[in-house]
Amino acid sequence: MCRHLAYLGPPVTLESLLVDPPHGLVRQAWAPRHQDVGRINADGFGVGWYDRSRRLEPARYRTTRPMWTDSSFASLAGLAASGAVMASVRAATPPSPVETSSNAPFTSGPWLFSHNGTVNGFHDPSTGLRVKLGRLVSERRAGGIEGCSDSEVLFALVLDRLDEGASLGDALVEVTATVLGLTTGRLNLLLTDGLDVAATAWGSSLFILRDVGLAAGGMVVASEPCDDEPGWEALPDGFLMEGNASNCSSKAMGDADARVTHPGTQTTPTGPVEAAPPLEVVVHLQPGEVESALLADVRAGLGARPRRLSPRWLYDDRGSELFDAITRLPEYYPTRREREILVDHAAEIAALTKADTLVELGSGTSEKTGLLLDALDQAGNLQRFIPLDVSEATLRAAAAGIADTYPALTVRAVVGDFVDHVGRLPVGGRRLVAFLGGTIGNLGPSERASLLADLAGGLAPGDALLLGTDLVKDPARLVAAYDDGAGVTAEFNRNLLHMLNRELGANFVPERFQHLARWNAEQQWIEMRLRSIGTQSVRLPGVEMEIEFLDGEEVLTEISAKFHREGIEAELAVAGLRLAEWWTDTAGDYALSLSLA
Ligand code: SAH
Ligand code: AVI
Repeated sequence: MCRHLAYLGPPVTLESLLVDPPHGLVRQAWAPRHQDVGRINADGFGVGWYDRSRRLEPARYRTTRPMWTDSSFASLAGLAASGAVMASVRAATPPSPVETSSNAPFTSGPWLFSHNGTVNGFHDPSTGLRVKLGRLVSERRAGGIEGCSDSEVLFALVLDRLDEGASLGDALVEVTATVLGLTTGRLNLLLTDGLDVAATAWGSSLFILRDVGLAAGGMVVASEPCDDEPGWEALPDGFLMEGNASNCSSKAMGDADARVTHPGTQTTPTGPVEAAPPLEVVVHLQPGEVESALLADVRAGLGARPRRLSPRWLYDDRGSELFDAITRLPEYYPTRREREILVDHAAEIAALTKADTLVELGSGTSEKTGLLLDALDQAGNLQRFIPLDVSEATLRAAAAGIADTYPALTVRAVVGDFVDHVGRLPVGGRRLVAFLGGTIGNLGPSERASLLADLAGGLAPGDALLLGTDLVKDPARLVAAYDDGAGVTAEFNRNLLHMLNRELGANFVPERFQHLARWNAEQQWIEMRLRSIGTQSVRLPGVEMEIEFLDGEEVLTEISAKFHREGIEAELAVAGLRLAEWWTDTAGDYALSLSLA
């Protein structure tokens, strides 16, 4: 990730604009305050500035040195003055190299351009994205791309649109639409010719300051406020701003181009810049991080015997859709049972907890969550909803749907891992943390203990945990729930192999693995496995592995633990949580428990 800034207004020194402000770009290089991905922007920086009385093309200074260590720049910044500046500090997203040519601002003719974010999958050869996007660049521009980062390709695409006569804003929105037609990403783009500026907020924060303080007589658009003075306004995610030193307007990017539909644009009022967007998506998992976690898990889990993989990988976009289909299967009772309990007890939960903030872990489609939100709303307390899930597309769609249904609700969706990120959930308010669906059963006993301890440690007095757990029952019914007649769960399980083929260039033939669901009576959990049909050799180039599967050899892909009340109560107690209520459905298949910190 990076931080960037553009200024249009009366001439100021680069020092007063970038170095002096208490949270200016130099400070943002080592201590950004609104950056969700990465904590430091030390892979260099760049500054472009204009003197249009001398020439239309800007001057530009770029280096891979961290901004706070560059005494040469500090020296020139005290004298160089300009009324039109763009600057950026960079954190290279692996495997993008640290090299000067990849540092913004990029320039061509009168233009300066910066990209804060990543095009997801750009550096992954198996996606073919680099080639696909590269092919969209005109031949004339393609030759001018110096380095190999996604941002340079975006700039070439923007220049092509500008060549065709697009306005600054239209060029940014059209290129965003092009990228979103192929993949997802964080696409905060910034473009100026020294007179006008356009910027998008797509996945990262963006603020605007007009005619006061640092922007006196002009405007600053920046990834984050450079000081704590009043006047900085947040541009909602999914919005485009266009302006110059004296005027500035913003609109939802979906209003500018129907191909750009952003969850945040569905509920955010159009018109002037808004201070508090009702829907915000915070991403704690960056693509490089997810990739390296997958590589590590595959190396450790598939490379060992017995072979295993974390169930977390079951939920790519297709896996999330398949899980959704599972919840409607006749054999899969947990979702229906949990809904029944929520219908019967949501009002009581709202009355007991008096929560104003609902946090939901592993929220998925948040389909049953409406029952809780309605009850909290009717109790007159509801203010915030914070869903957290690893599956970004599902989370974004669910969060947008909820923001749409509850216009007064602040929705702050967190793309993250509940094992690693519960400690980083937004604090404040009176919180009810819901962990529904029986997903806690997909963790082993020690993982459950540490998650519950982390959760308990983050709860304040008065906060509560609502936990959904499937209960021990007739093994035949349990096995049927995980080996349905229509074969949807089998497909959900084999989808893991499709995912490995896509992400790691592996050559699994999924049909040559049989789906198994087995009750482990000793551990009291269902085991979902994939069993090799015949001996087979599978190559996984992404991890440089070749695995020989013996005939009948199995890979454990998920456990789904089933509980008794005493066991849950004891696990909660060890974590320092007190079981306050225990509700089951009428058949006694499933339980919801409410615990207090
Ligand atoms: N709570 C929903 C969805 C349950 S499916 C329900 O009750 O129906 C499990 C959800 O947990 C999926 O959406 C999956 O993406 C998410 N998930 C799985 N492992 C996760 C992890 N380690 N961190 C965060 N979310 C995870
Ligand atoms: C999300 N989790 C609680 C489901 C379960 O029942 O363990 C996942 C699942 N696996 C197969 N079917 C459903």
